[in-house]
Amino acid sequence: MSAAPPICRNVSPQRLARLDEAIFGQPVPVDGSAPGGPPESPWDAAAYGRLLANPAVTAWIAQAPAGDDAGLLCTQRVADEGEVYRIGVLPHLRRQGCARALLAAWLAHAAAQGARSVSLEVRAGNRPAIALYRALGFVDVARRQAYYAAPREDALLMRWTAPASAGGAPRA
Ligand SMILES: CC(C)(COP(=O)(O)OP(=O)(O)OC[C@H]1O[C@@H](n2cnc3c(N)ncnc32)[C@H](O)[C@@H]1OP(=O)(O)O)[C@@H](O)C(=O)NCCC(=O)NCCS
Repeated sequence: MSAAPPICRNVSPQRLARLDEAIFGQPVPVDGSAPGGPPESPWDAAAYGRLLANPAVTAWIAQAPAGDDAGLLCTQRVADEGEVYRIGVLPHLRRQGCARALLAAWLAHAAAQGARSVSLEVRAGNRPAIALYRALGFVDVARRQAYYAAPREDALLMRWTAPASAGGAPRA
């Protein structure tokens, strides 16, 4: 997936849930040492349906060259603040630029819509995700002790700031 993958912006909760299950429903060791990172519970169609009822929430899917759904991104933007809720790529399609393409596209979109900053929380041991966020310009802003359960783990709070050249309304 060296070229930027096609991104679908209007996707059903059912389609998102199918892909989410394939990404997050993988069994991983309880110590969180699997290459895919620590366990997360899959989100079902009802959960995606509730989220997408909020017009501030966006869920995008990236497709593999063969046309199959490969990765997803779920975010929210309210006024000048955005938040990343979830990002994931099918295990066999990782390290091919899928998540970078999805997140970079949404950051540019959010900035053009007026977002000045985007925040997220990530398990402190999720090295692939943290590396992805840092590669896209997110910086560490805080650490929440023992924030996650099963396994108990700190949360790292990270924030991205839109470049001054990005679109959107200027700050007062
Ligand atoms: C984190 C995740 C979304 C990255 O997806 P991906 O498509 O493999 O990421 P990309 O190929 O776009 O990588 C972009 C950059 O992120 C960093 N990165 C991604 N995976 C990495 C890894 N395993 N180790 C080190 N750096 C990594 C690198 O800087 C990479 O750039 P490079 O390949 O040029 O070095 C993927 O590993 C995943 O789905 N993990 C499980 C779900 C998860 O933990 N989501 C986050 C919490 S919701």
